Amino acid sequence: MAFIEASSPHTMNTYGRLPIAMSHGQGVRVTDVNGKQYLDGLGGIAVNTLGHNHPRLVPALQDQIGKIIHSSNYYHVPGQETLAAKLVELSGMTNVFFCCTGLEANEGALKLARKFGHDKGIERPEIVVYEKAFHGRSIATLSATGNEKVQKGFGPLVEGFIRVPLNDIESLKAATDGNPNVVAVFFETIQGEGGINPMRIEYLRQVRELCDARDWLLMIDEVQCGMGRTGKWFAHQWAGIVPDVMPLAKGLGSGVPIGAVVAGPKAANIFQPGNHGTTFGGNPLATRAGVETIRIMEEDGLLANAAKVGAHLKTGLAAALQAEIASGGVKEIRGMGLMLGIDLSKPCGALVQQAADKGLLISVTADSVVRLVPPLILSATEADQIVAILCPLISAFLKEAA
Ligand SMILES: Cc1ncc(COP(=O)(O)O)c(C=O)c1O
Repeated sequence: MAFIEASSPHTMNTYGRLPIAMSHGQGVRVTDVNGKQYLDGLGGIAVNTLGHNHPRLVPALQDQIGKIIHSSNYYHVPGQETLAAKLVELSGMTNVFFCCTGLEANEGALKLARKFGHDKGIERPEIVVYEKAFHGRSIATLSATGNEKVQKGFGPLVEGFIRVPLNDIESLKAATDGNPNVVAVFFETIQGEGGINPMRIEYLRQVRELCDARDWLLMIDEVQCGMGRTGKWFAHQWAGIVPDVMPLAKGLGSGVPIGAVVAGPKAANIFQPGNHGTTFGGNPLATRAGVETIRIMEEDGLLANAAKVGAHLKTGLAAALQAEIASGGVKEIRGMGLMLGIDLSKPCGALVQQAADKGLLISVTADSVVRLVPPLILSATEADQIVAILCPLISAFLKEAA
């Protein structure tokens, strides 16, 4: 008998929640209020970079809470300067605006792009976005999102977006040729909610070149795929490119809400006092979480760990699902580092509860893609445990009558 009722009478009915409530966690394990333990293959959806109850993060946050949690952006916040300097060093960009969530970081990016256009005399700026993209659930970011389910019921959508397919430079050129209103191209290096769909290295370079040639901003949403998840600090760095604008959130604070808009020289001075702001953004607690997360990632070599254990996990999944890949039940295993998707031939939302019953947390995205975005501290042994729980479930699920 679950301790928690399956319904939530007083919170809005926005989530199809599992009848599980977490009590506490340690490393990559979480325990629910009934004492059942789970291996965390989801990491709070790519948020819990350092896992749970990290022995160096927790005392640092306790120390910060005892000093000051929040002041105001009316004053300087020293933690913002420390974290911004670190993000600048890691990204090769120049300035940072802090906010609280991924959608808020993306809103900031969209406003930057529009003002970049207005400053150049473009009165109706247009931004290129992608099929299957996910950028958030505010009115502007859901308009940029390429998923009708997310948009349905919220029209009229924000105008000024041009949508193109992934990895097709000719389509991008055809959609924008002769249009003087284009100001930016905006995408995720690896689409998360859209089903773990990577942009190809060559395509990333081609878009960078096109943006330079046409004086557009290259804006890369690294909210889900960034912060070390693929084995580089930011996934686009595999292509050796640097964007003009990069929204971050999720893993940046290891669970403490924080977002950031990182800008390069072309975008860093677009906002002036009064153009943009947020009450909570970059408060002392959130920025301390960011600083300590990055410090611990560096000290413990978590980028290398994400790359190594991610490759091990991908190989393990492919080996255990060999028959299912051969039969077409598993169409593809995609992704990099600890951002992996197993694309099945049929909708597989039911696997989420089945995996939880067996003590593994996963998610299913784009209806038929099992997503694994565990904490970056995952060990090879724990990766093997994920394979051992998940693959037999997938195998049995595919055998069930369609
Ligand atoms: C790529 C990407 N951008 C933006 C968001 C929105 O972030 P948030 O839920 O923090 O608003 C998400 C959330 O899943 C995301 O994956």
